[in-house]
Amino acid sequence: MVDIQKVSILGKESIHCGFHLIPYIVQTVLKTLPSSAYVLVTDTNVASLYLGAFTTEFNSALANSESRFLSYAVAPGESVKSRDGKAEIEDFLLANTCTRDTVILALGGGVIGDLVGFVAATFMRGVKFIQIPTTLLAMVDSSVGGKTAIDTPHGKNLIGAFWQPEYIFIDAAFLETLPAREFSNGMAEVVKTAAIWNESDFALLESRSEEIFTAIQTPSSNSSGREKSTRSTAQDLLLRVIIGSISVKSHIVTVDERETGLRNLVNFGHTIGHAIEAILTPTILHGECVSIGMIFEAEIARQMGVLGQVAVGRLTRCLKAYNLPVSINDPRIARVPAAKLITVDRLLDIMKIDKKNSGPVKKIVILSRIGATYEQKATGVADSVITKILSEACKVIPGIPSHDPVRMATPGSKSISNRALLLAALGTGTCRLKNLLHSDDTQVMMNALIELQGATFAWEDGGETIVVTGGGGSLSVPAKGKEVYLGNAGTAARFLATVCTLVQPAPTRTVITGNARMKQRPIGPLVDALRANGSEIDYLESQGCLPLSITPAGLKGSRIQLAASVSSQYVSSILLCAPYALEPVILELTGGQVISQPYIDMTIAMMKTFGVDIVRKTDPETGKLLDIYEIPHAVYKNPPEYNIESDASSATYPLAIAAITGTTCTIPNIGSASLQGDARFAKDVLEPMGCKVVQTETETTVTGPPIGQLKALGYVDMEPMTDAFLTASVLAAVAIGTPHPGRELSDAPNNTTRILGIANQRVKECNRIRAMIDQLAKFGVETKELDDGLEVYGKPIPELKTGVSVHCYDDHRVAMAFSVLGTVIKETVLEEKRCVEKTWPNWWDDLENKIGLKVEGVELHDSHSSGSLSSPAIVETPSVVISGMRGSGKTHIGELAALSLGWPFLDADHYFEEKYQIGIKEFVAKNSWPAFREAETETLKKLLKDYSAKHVISLGGGIVETPAARDVLEVYSKKGPVVHIVRDIEEIVTYLGAETARPAYGEPIEDVYTRRAPWYAEVCNYKFSNNTKSGPDPKAVAQEVSRFFKHVTGQSPNHPANLAKGKKSYFLSLTYPDINLALPHINEITTGVDALELRVDLLRDQDSFDKIGSYVPSKVYVTNQLATLRLATSLPIVFTIRTVSQGGSFPDAAEAEAFELFDLAVRAGVEYIDVEISWSAKCISGLISKKGQAKVIASWHDWSGKLAWDGTEVMQKYQDADKFGDIVKIVGKANTLEDNFTLHSFVKKVTAASGSKPVLAINMGVVGQMSRILNSTFSPVTHPLLPNKAAPGQLSFREIQTALNLIGQLPTQKHYLFGTPISHSPSPTLHNTGFETLGLPHKYEILETKEVGEQIKAAITAPEFGGASVTIPFKLDVIPLLDSLSPEAKLIGAVNTIVPVVKPDGSKTLHGDNTDWRGIREAILSKLPTKITQPGAGLIIGAGGTSRAAIYALQSLGTKKIYLFNRTRSSAQALVDAFPDAKVELVENLGNWSGPSPTIVVSTVPAQATSIEQNVAESMYLPESVFEAHSGVVVDMAYKPAETPLLTLAKTVGKGWQCVKGVEVLLEQGYVQFELWTGRRAPREVIAEAVLKKYESS
Ligand SMILES: NC(=O)c1ccc[n+]([C@@H]2O[C@H](COP(=O)([O-])OP(=O)(O)OC[C@H]3O[C@@H](n4cnc5c(N)ncnc54)[C@H](O)[C@@H]3O)[C@@H](O)[C@H]2O)c1
Ligand SMILES: [Zn+2]
Repeated sequence: MVDIQKVSILGKESIHCGFHLIPYIVQTVLKTLPSSAYVLVTDTNVASLYLGAFTTEFNSALANSESRFLSYAVAPGESVKSRDGKAEIEDFLLANTCTRDTVILALGGGVIGDLVGFVAATFMRGVKFIQIPTTLLAMVDSSVGGKTAIDTPHGKNLIGAFWQPEYIFIDAAFLETLPAREFSNGMAEVVKTAAIWNESDFALLESRSEEIFTAIQTPSSNSSGREKSTRSTAQDLLLRVIIGSISVKSHIVTVDERETGLRNLVNFGHTIGHAIEAILTPTILHGECVSIGMIFEAEIARQMGVLGQVAVGRLTRCLKAYNLPVSINDPRIARVPAAKLITVDRLLDIMKIDKKNSGPVKKIVILSRIGATYEQKATGVADSVITKILSEACKVIPGIPSHDPVRMATPGSKSISNRALLLAALGTGTCRLKNLLHSDDTQVMMNALIELQGATFAWEDGGETIVVTGGGGSLSVPAKGKEVYLGNAGTAARFLATVCTLVQPAPTRTVITGNARMKQRPIGPLVDALRANGSEIDYLESQGCLPLSITPAGLKGSRIQLAASVSSQYVSSILLCAPYALEPVILELTGGQVISQPYIDMTIAMMKTFGVDIVRKTDPETGKLLDIYEIPHAVYKNPPEYNIESDASSATYPLAIAAITGTTCTIPNIGSASLQGDARFAKDVLEPMGCKVVQTETETTVTGPPIGQLKALGYVDMEPMTDAFLTASVLAAVAIGTPHPGRELSDAPNNTTRILGIANQRVKECNRIRAMIDQLAKFGVETKELDDGLEVYGKPIPELKTGVSVHCYDDHRVAMAFSVLGTVIKETVLEEKRCVEKTWPNWWDDLENKIGLKVEGVELHDSHSSGSLSSPAIVETPSVVISGMRGSGKTHIGELAALSLGWPFLDADHYFEEKYQIGIKEFVAKNSWPAFREAETETLKKLLKDYSAKHVISLGGGIVETPAARDVLEVYSKKGPVVHIVRDIEEIVTYLGAETARPAYGEPIEDVYTRRAPWYAEVCNYKFSNNTKSGPDPKAVAQEVSRFFKHVTGQSPNHPANLAKGKKSYFLSLTYPDINLALPHINEITTGVDALELRVDLLRDQDSFDKIGSYVPSKVYVTNQLATLRLATSLPIVFTIRTVSQGGSFPDAAEAEAFELFDLAVRAGVEYIDVEISWSAKCISGLISKKGQAKVIASWHDWSGKLAWDGTEVMQKYQDADKFGDIVKIVGKANTLEDNFTLHSFVKKVTAASGSKPVLAINMGVVGQMSRILNSTFSPVTHPLLPNKAAPGQLSFREIQTALNLIGQLPTQKHYLFGTPISHSPSPTLHNTGFETLGLPHKYEILETKEVGEQIKAAITAPEFGGASVTIPFKLDVIPLLDSLSPEAKLIGAVNTIVPVVKPDGSKTLHGDNTDWRGIREAILSKLPTKITQPGAGLIIGAGGTSRAAIYALQSLGTKKIYLFNRTRSSAQALVDAFPDAKVELVENLGNWSGPSPTIVVSTVPAQATSIEQNVAESMYLPESVFEAHSGVVVDMAYKPAETPLLTLAKTVGKGWQCVKGVEVLLEQGYVQFELWTGRRAPREVIAEAVLKKYESS
């Protein structure tokens, strides 16, 4: 008999639940809903799994009937839930002449339910319909309640109807095929429903997540579960959970069908969740967003003082147990590009249009505890409260705590909580545990003890008190087949391992297990000790780790020996269980040094409170304590109440607030009797700072001195309380009083606090000593780092800087410590407020609600730009490590990399020699190679730790010989780039030749090279080819080094700006067998494009040049080809391997080879990799997991000509590609022009959602050319100079621009030059040549006017205006006409470029920029040797407008000193004043330098006004001493003549000097201007040729 459980809704038992119901569904429908036609609508995914079964069942039942069965499958995914999707189904129904009596069945997820339900609601004015949900979300949520809807581009679910189904059939067996992520998605709603309505359901979900997962992961064969008798426990549980959830929703819907109040409750988590979803859809699923929303909304409830932290914690852990994200910082969320768009303002904006709102007040469902809400409807919440919770950062408003004197408990100590829970569970009687810290450990321990039937637990005070009814040590083996799952809770695992030996004898065994991480954590010493004592424990997987299988036989007791040098938790585990052993226990700790004795003492002390006294033995002769403990046979007696001591480190913050604000704070459950070291903070730190401290055994009260009167501490050893040093440091920052007598330091000023004994704090969540130093520096507080501590020099509070933004390093202690400082220093922003979650999740609420200081949310703008001046180096950008053979060019490349990144360069060998004060060679001679390798590895570790961010670290070549060093590097490569520098071995041999500085190998270098090659491959995640054989141009090398390192470090990834939405990007397909063939024309053929596609499958080396057919090029060849291409261009590369079946020539079966080549590409820092979606999922996900900065183009090509752009297959392919690609590429073939338009609508549809990925979609064939013209992402183009097109129908960049212009997609623009006199200007030649070369239809012309008047105004406001150059004398006069200025233009005070900016709404604004300085800068850079940075001194001659740009250019190059010479001093002084940061110095006489002589000279005065002869009237004399330095670069801005007096002088006297002519600068600034207007690289060579030709002829 089918077992059906029915749930009633709206007074009808229409929800039928069970397993394997298909036959039951068909029979029930046919029997109770007679009709002429039954139409089942589903999606193709579900159809492929279940449609067959339905069809068979219907057809056989209808065999002799007039009625018809029809089915229809639409594309899967949200996009079908549209007007088009609805029409598609309606057309099907009409075409099949379905009539008013049709019964429609919706088989599928929520998409199908919503869509088909809406069709049913309006088809023939409404027909009967049936919901057969197949996703969990649909079962528990969307199918229940009668809401149906479709989406429009304006938003989701905006059009729909209430239409109740006749039946809802819940067949939980469908869930067995559902992807795990979709299951979790549904669980979010299940958890939500329990959270608002039913605590016992919630407890079930909380404790049995593992089993619930098992139920869907174990396929039920032979329809098992259909009948009660064949149903497994897991299936029972699953159904119970689903029905529980449905019942709640049905009840609510029945009471409030049309959503007027109560029904709002099911929107818990949805107000904020929907807002997040609006931004992240479709990448992140509804349930995932709601999960995050629930946590935010629960935090709002907590902030309002309505909900306790315990409940928030339970909710968080429960959602996590179902693999749901609980914060927007979850890596799954953070790595979605659209996640960057989540800002508080944006979320609030979206929330404005929530249906629940009444007027401007936002409504949120507020929980009051697990299982109940604050009101029977959503509650109005002020925006300020929502903002506070949503903000990433916050600030404390300084003031006096309004609750002074404060009395508050702080979170319970974790170690005490774990022990107390176990003791109470093992004891007899009832114990009320107060202030328990809820953590994974306590949660897991409770679940396990319930399963072992060892104790029962209940909550009181809304979860604040937990009532434990102890089982007196009686425990049973869990139900058959039931394993005790401990997740990753380490303490719980260690404590419970011994507990399980206590279980009463039984025929089955107890199994404890955990997650993957737990299965690696050691437990060997404890198991050894228990086994030696007679317990039978087996390892089920790895030796020494969980899972364990334990025979229940009781603990034997008597003598137990335990190795205790690894973890004191093993000791505590045995001690806690020992009283229940069969015989009294004598525990002897072996293995030398016992670790963490204080924790052992804590266990013993707590056992005593629960009535069991332990004796620690002493040596009768010496009286010394021994590591031997005697534990009597006994039973714990539970005290009626046990107050868990506060965590002493946490307590330091409220106490410090009392100290700094001159108020009083009492912490009632921590005092002098505490076993926690940090409990001494009040007496040892606060009292000597001038606070009044009263401490009893169990309570601590601190009263601070009046504000500003804290005393410096002098010397303090904080070894016993290292965690509290951060709190001490912030107090020391404002402690100016002379230390107490006896504490003064003889060697430091009186405002010094010297904290020692805290070296271990360098390896906590962050390097905390550095963190304090860096963050205190932002307040203007000086400090000094010491070997095992630091010194802080106090300052009066008013002298500390306000408005500081504190970076918290994701470290709770940094955040809480600086919030103490924030109570007296205005506008102190704590950047990552959430990091307090680790120990005190409700710290900010407590600060407000219990201490009485206001906290406000702060939204950080641009928090991730490392360049922001106020907070340098906020983001931890991992250092680059460079490795490779000796002589491979590590130093050369490393230094260039460091230069381009602006990071310091560190040579590990030098570092080593400095550290050991001995050369490496000598070290080896003195101590042997192994000793050196060991020391080298240690040095490596230290280097990587001390210089973990923003350094370039070059390693010795032999370091990979040491396995330990390889391990270190491999671990590092998971977070930062480790780059292998490779150079041809012959080149290395030649280069090393006579070199002797480093130890010789004593074997041929070639052998060393071969031996080390695999090791380099293993430890390095990138590979840089240092190709020296061809004698490359040093500038090209420097440029490639810069591209490579900026890319792989993520500092400035080489991705084109034109990929952005609304822009058009192109790549050129290189179809050469050998890239060298392309090099002569590389600039010409790449004109206009944004990237180059390297068709790897077409590459052929010399020997296989004319091989046709399928072929795999060698890795060496591909590597060399890439390296060659890189030196010729810095355009991003698209690395494509096209297989034969997809139109290329790579063998379809060579998957392994293809992925080896992809790996090579990732290592080479390739920007884009084209990966066909038909490769195996395993290989693809392997590639994705290590792609680094590379982006993946997921591609699909259909050459058949049958791909219908409005069909389901293409949607399926799109979804497959969207899963892993950063860009989706789909290529079909056009048969008619219309195919291109269907393609276009397809692209518009899938890219409509915000956050959708760029799509490259084209049709092949000549008929498909229109699609290439309209495509906007990476259109593949060819060039007339290429040997053959990569694909039929390919167009050139120029052709596409022309076509776009013709079809009205690229209107002709007008550009101008404003100024006078300008008739001879080369600018028109410059820009028109550029436009012409790119095939752009734009025109540039001269507009010469006397003043900035009506003519210019008319030109710049005309719709066709595309941009203008501005020259003398209008560079200042145009400014009032502009809407905005670039920072440079502002600083220089002049505009030479006007750029119209089109906003998304189509409106235009005018932006002013200045490219003169860029022209000067680029011209100088092109002549400077690659390794010069920060020139020592520069000279600028003249003080007009151009000089301003020159100063800015020199400043941007980092010039240390700038001399300025001008004949009139006053105008020169004005310039100096305008650039206070540039350190400009006026020069009285040329040649009279106050510092180094200039190596860069820029003249801005007209050539006629200068002379190299002395005493020429009206002329400025240029002495030879201008070129005193032995080399440099001189720029003469004068445009005519080509050879100015200054340049002539340079040529004659300055041998090492390079000259830059005015026309060269003009060109450079023109290129920049061109790029600002067109968004494309200027075709420099062509332009330069045309301009110079004109220049020379005039
Ligand atoms: N009407 C309501 O009250 C309500 C409530 C919540 C959500 N919704 C709507 O529900 C939709 C989301 O529903 P969903 O999460 O079920 O998404 P969905 O319908 O898109 O299904 C998710 C994916 O799982 C596949 N799938 C479905 N059942 C499967 C099975 N048994 N085995 C393998 N694959 C299976 C589908 O083909 C699809 O790819 C949204 O449109 C949302 O607006 C409606
Ligand atoms: Zn929902």
